[in-house]
Amino acid sequence: MAEDSGYSKEDWQKHYDEDDLRWDLGEVSPPLRHFLENNPISKDRALVPGCGQGHEVVYLAQNGFAVTAVDYTKGATQKLARNLARNRVGAEVICANFFNLGLEHKNRYNLMLEQTFFCAIHPTLRNRYVDLVSRVLKPGGFLVGVFYETGEEDGPPFNTTRAHILRHFSGPFQIEQLEKTNRSAEKRQGKEWFAVLKKR
Ligand SMILES: C[S@@+](CC[C@H](N)C(=O)[O-])C[C@H]1O[C@@H](n2cnc3c(N)ncnc32)[C@H](O)[C@@H]1O
Repeated sequence: MAEDSGYSKEDWQKHYDEDDLRWDLGEVSPPLRHFLENNPISKDRALVPGCGQGHEVVYLAQNGFAVTAVDYTKGATQKLARNLARNRVGAEVICANFFNLGLEHKNRYNLMLEQTFFCAIHPTLRNRYVDLVSRVLKPGGFLVGVFYETGEEDGPPFNTTRAHILRHFSGPFQIEQLEKTNRSAEKRQGKEWFAVLKKR
């Protein structure tokens, strides 16, 4: 197992081996799609961590972003490669631990999209997540995401409340928007916080 009681890479890979992608919406997360369709964000470099088969990656690439996608399982990156090829778009696909992204990613991205990655990692890794995101985003860059309030003790997915988001992100990020969204996919209705966080 991974650090503490979270999922290990092997646990995630097993899901891909068994084709058990219970988290996969089969489409771009609706609140993220709505945001991107209605807010002009400069079509610069975008990052998608823990991308899975990457509906968001394909969407960003189709809409003119230079996208980097990261997932540490071969199952995810192979599925994403097929998804990109099927849609005739390209992206930089990195099969590696997100927490090991090197210095070459520093201040590189204008946008990071969060979709069921923050809830996938063990809560003890949340400080490292915030440190890393604030390192790889450019000043003024945006972390736009949905954060899953499962209301459950265990995970993954691990519970994320409004208080958690404020506690972790208020320092390095300006909270531009933070609200329960009514645009979630049906099975997540009422449980997702939609956030627009701007790196200070
Ligand atoms: C719940 S899935 C979400 C996938 C995708 N975001 C989606 O919503 O369909 C979490 C993904 O994060 C990946 N993952 C978990 N921890 C990771 C880490 N430390 N570095 C890179 N990928 C990781 C897993 O392999 C898995 O594909």
